[in-house]
Amino acid sequence: TERMPLRGKKVLITAGPTYEPIDPVRFIGNYSSGRMGFALADEAAALGAEVVLVSGPTDLQAGFPGIKLLRVTTANEMYKAVHDEFGDSHIVICAAAVADYRPRETADQKIKKQEDQMQIELVKNPDILKSLGEKKQKQFLVGFALETENEVVHAREKLARKNLDAIVLNSLRDEGAGFGGNTNKISFLDKNSGIKAFALKSKAEVAKDIFNEIIQRIQN
Ligand code: C5P
Repeated sequence: TERMPLRGKKVLITAGPTYEPIDPVRFIGNYSSGRMGFALADEAAALGAEVVLVSGPTDLQAGFPGIKLLRVTTANEMYKAVHDEFGDSHIVICAAAVADYRPRETADQKIKKQEDQMQIELVKNPDILKSLGEKKQKQFLVGFALETENEVVHAREKLARKNLDAIVLNSLRDEGAGFGGNTNKISFLDKNSGIKAFALKSKAEVAKDIFNEIIQRIQN
């Protein structure tokens, strides 16, 4: 029906940061709050979808009853959980801020203070979104791009390289956009060169705009 346009659809969403352990008490992470991904999950549930939310460490609780929340810590754990859920999903949105690198080794014991300098060797994490683009069949696949310069050009390049159907661009130049806060300002780019810019609004309202754009495109 009009009010439940995602009934019968499975929506898979990633959210939050990942933490990559250095030793038992330290990690490499980032400032992602998870709010955008959780807002997307709530909106998808409100639209009638079956929702699976794979989230890195965050204090947030899934608001909508029925959302299947899978909590993970590292990029590798997120990769596994997402691939387990991908096959029968209809819409997949990667909103997580995945750490690009992880320490090559995690020390068993707390690392002792060293001399003035110390090194931690890092290795690349899998690009979860790109791996989904390679595996994609009928799924409508959406990524996020957080850029600081040449935003549209970089977002378009990412959309093509990762074989996405659409990408949501948020610029760190815009006050009130991006990490942490309760508001965001986005542009929605699709694979047919479409671009639509939205005003600064709450992440709940942004989630509505994003699903509005997706629903238009999966019905065509
Ligand atoms: O390439 P970049 O990290 O800027 O791309 C951002 C997009 O890719 C986001 O949708 C993010 O969730 C996803 N991503 C991912 N796994 C990574 C890195 C980014 O899923 N290792």
